[in-house]
Amino acid sequence: MALSHPVRYERQGAIALVSIVNPPVNALSQSVRLGLMDAMDRAEADKGVVAVVLFGTGPNFIAGADISEFGQPPRMPSLPEVCNRIEASDLLVVSVLHGVTLGGGLEIALSTDYRVALAGAQVGLPEVALGLIPGAGGTQRLPRLVGVDAALDLICTGRRISGSKAEALGIVDHVTTGAPRDIGLSYANDLLGRNQTVRPVSALAPPESTNWEAAERKINHRARGQIAPVTALRAIRASVELPFEQGLAEERRHFEDLMQSDQRQAMVHAFFAQRKASNLPELKGLAPREFEKVAVVGGGLMGAGIASSALMAGLTVTVVETSEGAAETARDRIAQNLEGAVRRGKMTSSEYELALGENLELASHFGALSDCDLVIEAVFEDLAVKKVVFEHLDTHCKPGAVLATNTSYLDVEELAGITKRPQDVLGLHFFSPAHVMKLLEVVVPQATAPDVVATGFAFAKRLGKHAVRAGVGDGFIGNRILGAYRAAADQIVVAGASPLDVDRAMEGFGFAMGPYAVADMAGLDIGRAARKRLAALRDPRARTASFPDRLCEAGHLGRKTGAGYYQYDAEARQGDLNPKALELINAEREYSKVQSQDFPAEQIAYRIAAAMVNEAAKVIDEGVARRPLDVDVVMMAGYGFPRYRGGPCKWADLRGLRALLSEIETYAENDPFFWQPAELLQRLVAEGRNFDDLNETPLT
Ligand code: 3HC
Repeated sequence: MALSHPVRYERQGAIALVSIVNPPVNALSQSVRLGLMDAMDRAEADKGVVAVVLFGTGPNFIAGADISEFGQPPRMPSLPEVCNRIEASDLLVVSVLHGVTLGGGLEIALSTDYRVALAGAQVGLPEVALGLIPGAGGTQRLPRLVGVDAALDLICTGRRISGSKAEALGIVDHVTTGAPRDIGLSYANDLLGRNQTVRPVSALAPPESTNWEAAERKINHRARGQIAPVTALRAIRASVELPFEQGLAEERRHFEDLMQSDQRQAMVHAFFAQRKASNLPELKGLAPREFEKVAVVGGGLMGAGIASSALMAGLTVTVVETSEGAAETARDRIAQNLEGAVRRGKMTSSEYELALGENLELASHFGALSDCDLVIEAVFEDLAVKKVVFEHLDTHCKPGAVLATNTSYLDVEELAGITKRPQDVLGLHFFSPAHVMKLLEVVVPQATAPDVVATGFAFAKRLGKHAVRAGVGDGFIGNRILGAYRAAADQIVVAGASPLDVDRAMEGFGFAMGPYAVADMAGLDIGRAARKRLAALRDPRARTASFPDRLCEAGHLGRKTGAGYYQYDAEARQGDLNPKALELINAEREYSKVQSQDFPAEQIAYRIAAAMVNEAAKVIDEGVARRPLDVDVVMMAGYGFPRYRGGPCKWADLRGLRALLSEIETYAENDPFFWQPAELLQRLVAEGRNFDDLNETPLT
């Protein structure tokens, strides 16, 4: 009989079976917490019951606290109360871990006396990925069970481990196979048969201390800028230095502080945004077309990366190149990519053999595409060249095949228009290296059929990528905003900051690398080509810094030539700023009669981020991005915008749109064209709304 809907109770002899039924992931919503409290009361009152088996239905035991309750007024009972209630029981409690057991789910398990896991189970305390720490005893119980060093590793990185690794560490007692209910029942019977009794983790001796300073240095190095990981260390330290109850209180205090932080809000936004971006309401219930047989036209760096990604997902891939020699080179590139994937544990060696053998076909003629379901063109980024390829696709591909272009900025509408089947055409913009990077912009021209869009999203999911819908427009979402980022950086350099100041400021903001170090790595000729292409379209009022082009003209193309904005040694290690770059920057300052100023790092980062937000608002207003969250996902997944800031739009909401707009208006005094405030930003401020409001009700 059900006690309360998501928690069920039944009895088998002396054992109470308590199951959690809260799809999709058995999150610990209030009704589940209440249900668990009721179930414990009932089991204790149920005459003859001596043990409780706690298990989950569906794919997982418990995926953690209900993230959608975060930031809402607390609803009783709290999760720590539930955990303490379970642990305090005189009944022997066994939990059965299957699928994933994460966060609060693992904290529930740690409050039971015995833990048995199914083969394939994964466990973890991923709270730091949400800007939090475990808040229901995880930082106090786990170190008592596995020691401080292992607890620091698991909690401060938030990584998941397998059931067998958890067994080796002592988190679970036994790993086996079968159905959760049966396993729990037989394990509990076995324990009772062996007269095992309760054994609360909180009663274990406090763990041994460690070198906290060294541990903190490591965390700060790995999780630069983030508050939660180092706070987790403080809470874990309390497990060594304080009695259990006080340690719990200390953990809760930290947890509640973090719950109020901007980083928690940003990371929870990132979690839901990523899922909402690829879950378009208009595609609900729409079946995608088949895409088992994929083809990639062009086996260069990008094409080989795309082919590798599809092969890693177990799909069959035909790569079409211009000659047999070029096809062989493409195969070598793919083999290299896949070898790397095997080394990183992303595929097994037998999957590698299959991918490179049976699943990969190399061809040097378009006829090889005749039976392919999804064809992705990844040839040279030139509209004329791509048009020729699309004509061939139109001739050779079977009716209903999805025809995609991997352009990063060209007009997909125009490519669709030259075929007789524009309804089958879309853009699939991958990011380099395509078999590693997680972002995929799905670019949708006017005529594209809805099931073709659905195919783009389903394909991305199969490849394990975060897909975001983008409209047609130069640079789509990401490269367009990147353009504003780069222009704002160049502008502040002309105004007095050095490229090193800018790079340090952006690293301080949370990017892994600053824009000038990135430009050196990519090659300065890449940016130059983009500027050349856009030159004809450029508004005469746009002021563009000239030093980047001058540097290219002087032959300083970045790492590959030994110097760009920085100098590089023979091993390509970055050294000081390149004097030639400084000379050109100074010359430009003199020419433009700029009074060079000093900019604090905070100001540099704010200004550059403001430029991204302003451009993002334009991109949304034009419909190229549907919602602010789409921009946020693109910039986090593809361009290194720090996740703990939630993407440019979330960052702007958290900093306040009114203040941001007024800063932009100040910058506009010097360059009214570049800093022209986006109309959408002005409207939002005037209406007292923010970007998040548009996530709920997108512009129509
Ligand atoms: N709370 C609320 N909703 C959740 C959730 C959670 N903990 N976990 C997943 N969901 C929702 C998702 O938003 C999604 O909803 P949608 O269908 O409406 O978009 C749905 O469940 C399915 O999720 P996924 O699309 O992510 O499904 P997958 O099968 O790919 O992945 C998962 C499942 C591995 C459980 C993944 O969702 C995940 O990692 N979830 C987060 C786990 C987590 O961070 N737990 C810790 C929470 S913090 C905590 O416990 C605090 C405690 O210490 C007090």
